[in-house]
Amino acid sequence: METEMKTQTAAEQMTDRDLSEQIKKVTRESHVRAENTELMLSFQRGQVSLAQYKLLLCSLYAIYQALEEELDKNSNHAGVAPIYFPTELARLESIEKDLEYFYGQDWRDKIVVPAATKRYCHRLRQIGQENPAFLVAHAYTRYLGDLSGGQVLGRIAQKSMGLKGNEGLSFFAFPGVSSPNLFKQLYRSRMNSVELTEEERNGVLEEAVRAFEFNIQVFDDLQTMLKLQNDSTLSKPVKTLQVPGTITNTFPLL
Ligand code: HEM
Repeated sequence: METEMKTQTAAEQMTDRDLSEQIKKVTRESHVRAENTELMLSFQRGQVSLAQYKLLLCSLYAIYQALEEELDKNSNHAGVAPIYFPTELARLESIEKDLEYFYGQDWRDKIVVPAATKRYCHRLRQIGQENPAFLVAHAYTRYLGDLSGGQVLGRIAQKSMGLKGNEGLSFFAFPGVSSPNLFKQLYRSRMNSVELTEEERNGVLEEAVRAFEFNIQVFDDLQTMLKLQNDSTLSKPVKTLQVPGTITNTFPLL
């Protein structure tokens, strides 16, 4: 244990100036909070419901649409080009496939974008326009998260919802990444190759903490929506009770 701690300290000192190490360090506490949100705990306990997953997909659709549009627009920016990997990482089309699976062909008319998700998307568009060098903080938070814990969460989601094969779970699959760990190493080295002034570096670090905060708010918002939906279901006469996991008729837009 002691040896392990010493090694870790040495590794941290060696890479003290690396953005990838700094960003991991400043977001460590936020990561713990994100892991402990009700939604993420449901995943970890193998109890994620279809209702939770469908709502999460709605939010992820809006988030990745904003993130990937801003990355595309700024793909030649010096702070974005090194970490621009649309072939390997882009999630939007996978999420669209999953939404079609769960909501049907007219999914675009049925999905909802909760308020916290709108705020997150607004921030993504704002920095895409005003400060593209900060996009790395958001790309890191989402994509490296998807390539880390996300891999396990996909398998858990499949089991919890009793889904057959990978239907509805494209979001978790990265066919263009054969080794998530090696890819994460490459991504970190690309992050470290971005030249940043001290001020920009601090801005990116702050933005990463903010990115985690946005995600936490999105997850909390989603749980609140589900609670409201469940409460209204419970107060209705028995004949209108919803089948668990089916929220289609309770929220007009779902
Ligand atoms: C990394 C687990 C939720 C963002 C990781 C790693 C694990 C993990 C095991 C690898 C750590 C390492 O390689 O040192 C989980 C679990 C979660 C969860 C179990 C919830 C059930 C999240 C969320 C986000 C996130 C919600 C952000 C929205 C990240 C990022 C990394 C990461 C950015 C890369 C850290 C780095 O190497 O710099 N996570 N995670 N995670 N996770 Fe999560």
